[in-house]
Amino acid sequence: MTSLRVLAVANQKGGVGKTTTAINLGTALAAIGQKVLILDLDPQGNASTGVGVAEEARPITSFDVLAGKATISKAATKTLVPNLSIVPANADLVGLESALMSQPNRNFRLRDAVTAMLAEQKARPADVPYSYVLIDCLKHTIDQIKATLNPALEIQGVVLTMHDARTALSKEVAADVRAFFGPMVYETMIPRNVRVAEAPSAGKPIMLYDYDCPGSQAYIKLATEIIERERRLRAA
Ligand SMILES: Nc1ncnc2c1ncn2[C@@H]1O[C@H](COP(=O)(O)OP(=O)(O)OP(=O)(O)O)[C@@H](O)[C@H]1O
Ligand SMILES: [Mg+2]
Repeated sequence: MTSLRVLAVANQKGGVGKTTTAINLGTALAAIGQKVLILDLDPQGNASTGVGVAEEARPITSFDVLAGKATISKAATKTLVPNLSIVPANADLVGLESALMSQPNRNFRLRDAVTAMLAEQKARPADVPYSYVLIDCLKHTIDQIKATLNPALEIQGVVLTMHDARTALSKEVAADVRAFFGPMVYETMIPRNVRVAEAPSAGKPIMLYDYDCPGSQAYIKLATEIIERERRLRAA
């Protein structure tokens, strides 16, 4: 049975580790047997670069998908990681708003594209379907994503990133977030780890760059925690 989960990696703040999480959580989920697709929706294309898809290797991008010129499956390209594909992005995305100005339903392009992908997967039962789509959302707020993707969108979980157990501030932030979001917050915290920051310039997810580093191990733990939570949500 196809049961696709679409997870938007979102935070209204910049530079908080969204792209890093999309790349490395995607890789970890793929490594533990899920078939994963990342949708890069950032004109900077950092997620694409981070999984080894160079700028020259992006003939079809998320711009084409959102402009209604290509399907997700046409745009999806394989990455270095088995079972992990990506719809890459480039600077074309900057012009999306003006390109869509006169088009009807422009706000629902993302939703329509995912719906079409699901229909396509159903029509090809012999292919292994994607089980996770991770959307690297840049600075869109949950409200914007709700409006464009799914009005019934819910917070699946809250991830603490760049945690530094040595600083009082980091501990305080973690405690505040846990107090506010309660059990929504994953037990796993992604540590601040220089290896994690280095990996993208090698065009590799952290698990391929340095499997044993704390950042790798944390993303693997997070992936298992997410799958556990999904199982419980589905069983409920
Ligand atoms: N756990 C970590 N340890 C060390 N550095 C990290 C970690 N996570 C992210 N970084 C670094 O912090 C910077 C910001 O991370 P990232 O690009 O993932 O944030 P973002 O939320 O996607 O930013 P933007 O809003 O600009 O898209 C990057 O240089 C990244 O390599
Ligand atoms: Mg980003």
